[in-house]
Amino acid sequence: MRIDILTLLPELLESPLGHSIVKRAQDKGAVDIRVHNIREYGKGSYRQVDDYAFGGGAGMVMTVAPVFELIKKLKAERPYDEIIYLTPDGERLAQPAVNRLSVVTNIIILCGHYKGVDQRIREHLITKEISIGDYVLSGGELAAAVLVDAVVRVIPGVISDETSALTDSFQDGLLAPPVYTRPEEFNGWRVPDVLLSGNHKLIAEWQEEQAMLRTRQLRPDLLNE
Ligand code: ADE
Repeated sequence: MRIDILTLLPELLESPLGHSIVKRAQDKGAVDIRVHNIREYGKGSYRQVDDYAFGGGAGMVMTVAPVFELIKKLKAERPYDEIIYLTPDGERLAQPAVNRLSVVTNIIILCGHYKGVDQRIREHLITKEISIGDYVLSGGELAAAVLVDAVVRVIPGVISDETSALTDSFQDGLLAPPVYTRPEEFNGWRVPDVLLSGNHKLIAEWQEEQAMLRTRQLRPDLLNE
């Protein structure tokens, strides 16, 4: 899978893309992530990429031409399955959309800044608008890091323990059950006996029950009951 990220602040993405599972996935060749600086396509010697909003109002708007040129160049090189714009008024991100994106071949992710990008980019080039939650970030970069991390970890083969990503919260519509590790007792706090029993059937039943309990308690909206 190839992911092209278009941003005015490439530095913001360096660390999130350069560590842990996302880094290992790139090292393995499971994903090829390219970060492009929109400013390189800006106008004039100042490489201008923003301008005042028509109709007035506070805040600058990202201009059409630099983003258009960059997307045109990329589209001439390969077909893209989705051109995603990260914006608080997009569709709220959830695991099913993440899973769908993890099996496509090429995507572009456009990070917004200032007051956002000129509406004509959204109307004519963007195929999908995504929000990572009902709050406003200063730009789309942190949202892009969230989206890429969520997508990359479910690309088949990225997590070596195949079942691990499948047992994440949300993968089966439920929150994940609690987890414990050694020691069996700390400060008088004990690990539930069933987990130490060695009985895999009982353990699986307990985990299912806990997942259901947790979901009912913390996120009853996921159960549609
Ligand atoms: N850009 C600013 N806020 C955002 C959000 N909540 N989700 C995605 N992109 C954003």
